[in-house]
Amino acid sequence: MCGIVGYVGQRDATEVLLGGLARLEYRGYDSAGIAVQSERGFAVRKRSGPLPRLVSALAEDPARGTLGIGHTRWATHGAPSDTNAHPHSSEDGQVAIIHNGIIENYLGLRSELESAGHRFASETDSEVLVHLIEDAYRGDLVQAVRGALGRVRGAYALVVAHAAHRSIVAARTVSPLVLGVGAGEMFLASDVPALLPYTRQIVFLHDGDIAEIGESGYAVWALAGAPLQRSAVTVDWTSEAAERGGYPTFMLKEIYEQPAALLNTLGGRLHDESGEVVLELSTDPGRIDRIQIVACGTAYHAGLVGKYQIEQLARIPVEVEVASEYRYREPVVDPRTLVIAISQSGETIDTLEALRQARRGGAQLLAIVNAKGSSITREVGDVLYIHAGPEIGVASTKAYTAQLAAVLLLALWLGRSRGVLDAARGAEVLAELRRLPLLIEQVLQPERVQAVREVATRFASSRNYLFLGRGINAPSALEGALKLKEISYIHAEAYPAGEIKHGPIALVDSELPVFVVATAARLLDKTRSNIQEVAARRGQVIALLSDGDTLGVPVAAELRVPKTAELVSPLVNAIPLQLLAYYSAEALGRDADKPRNLAKSVTVE
Ligand code: F6R
Repeated sequence: MCGIVGYVGQRDATEVLLGGLARLEYRGYDSAGIAVQSERGFAVRKRSGPLPRLVSALAEDPARGTLGIGHTRWATHGAPSDTNAHPHSSEDGQVAIIHNGIIENYLGLRSELESAGHRFASETDSEVLVHLIEDAYRGDLVQAVRGALGRVRGAYALVVAHAAHRSIVAARTVSPLVLGVGAGEMFLASDVPALLPYTRQIVFLHDGDIAEIGESGYAVWALAGAPLQRSAVTVDWTSEAAERGGYPTFMLKEIYEQPAALLNTLGGRLHDESGEVVLELSTDPGRIDRIQIVACGTAYHAGLVGKYQIEQLARIPVEVEVASEYRYREPVVDPRTLVIAISQSGETIDTLEALRQARRGGAQLLAIVNAKGSSITREVGDVLYIHAGPEIGVASTKAYTAQLAAVLLLALWLGRSRGVLDAARGAEVLAELRRLPLLIEQVLQPERVQAVREVATRFASSRNYLFLGRGINAPSALEGALKLKEISYIHAEAYPAGEIKHGPIALVDSELPVFVVATAARLLDKTRSNIQEVAARRGQVIALLSDGDTLGVPVAAELRVPKTAELVSPLVNAIPLQLLAYYSAEALGRDADKPRNLAKSVTVE
């Protein structure tokens, strides 16, 4: 939802900004723009469309300087166009701003400013900010930004530069913003990967913070004025981890990174001698009567799998709910309810607000998150990091399997701590978890990947797909359908296999590919009957089976994964589903890293 970069130091600001924007393009690619401080104000260059259009514009008309701000946009108010692109400048050209978020009261402010004589250049909500700052400016930029923000309602990561100041002022509420500390230089960005080539010393700004960066360092205050201590932490992500590393897309790279990501998720948490899971959590497992999981999209599907894992291993009732729904009703929680948020970015606003809603009801809070220091991690008592490394591809892949592994760890920990999971059963699941990275390596062997690619290519011209699964793999079907929709734009539906005869089977004809996750051995007989029902209506069944299992029903295609325990099977099955979506998109010439209308990290409602 818009990417933001800022720089002040001795380097060529344009180069730093363009590099940072390239690493943030997953946050939006409707337009890109920069403003670089020059002797006569700002050189502003902006173009609709993806970043290379801005790069060409700069090749023709360079912008040179050592202080600048840059933005890549995911459009909310106002169509993607050159004029709606950020940065926005004040009428006197002295102030330049970039903004991520939504100013909810912008219409009222705009008409008020227009009545006072301000002329607006764009249709965006963001532009009111630059006019407000221009009005409030009396020589102190921090004070002017503070004054302007006092008038707005909504979400923002706001970055402001003034021609008369060799510093940049930034503020955030809801939308993310981090500072990067260098030697004689400072950076800022919406997300850590943008800064990794320059520094790993990161300051995570909190909601309501306002900061000023200059060559000699930074200062942070509360919006009301009190100075704050915000220290830098060293992040352990490497710059290479955020680059494509030779793969054609981040998504494919991240699919192949799953064995390593899972090693990180599990690392140090499986205790060999005792066969226990070690999690550094302060939650008291004995004080939980029920669990509610809140999340969005793929993370929600991880929650659905988690319900099976936790209920089976820890015998605690679990409800799973889409965060955007949860927050607008009156969920019943009490101090013995544990509400778990699952989020890769830790910035998804619906998930964050769902947590706040749960806290108001007195619930205990725990978050399963990838991005260190993100907003959600600061809202909760306990964080279980998944340690999957930066995920750049808009479609979540390695974060999903790492979330599944993390929830399984949690289920084992809860089960053992509450005394409902005996050591032998615990050890069995643990042993399977330990094999996981190896199993995923096997699923990614070239022959298996090639088999999925052939199926994807064969059915890429289909207008629709149906995904079916049972039990713990019913959510796998949902996730397969979501992945396919979002990056190939092929319409897909997903159902628990047993449900099709209650309606969806009417969709089946000889044109329809029906992908059936049929690996859960315990339910294979039942799933076989569902496959027969589809095959009898000439549906094109693509069956995902475990090695060694026989289906005994003629189908259009069979794909195979190594056999594993049922509780672990959604992790293994996720890989062919991701690859199916990826290669369908490839066959249709879609850009898997930049699916239309989508952005990573959804910080607007
Ligand atoms: C789909 C996808 C999204 C996210 C969702 C939640 O591939 O990536 O559905 O899972 O937007 O995002 P996080 O996990 O960052 O809260």
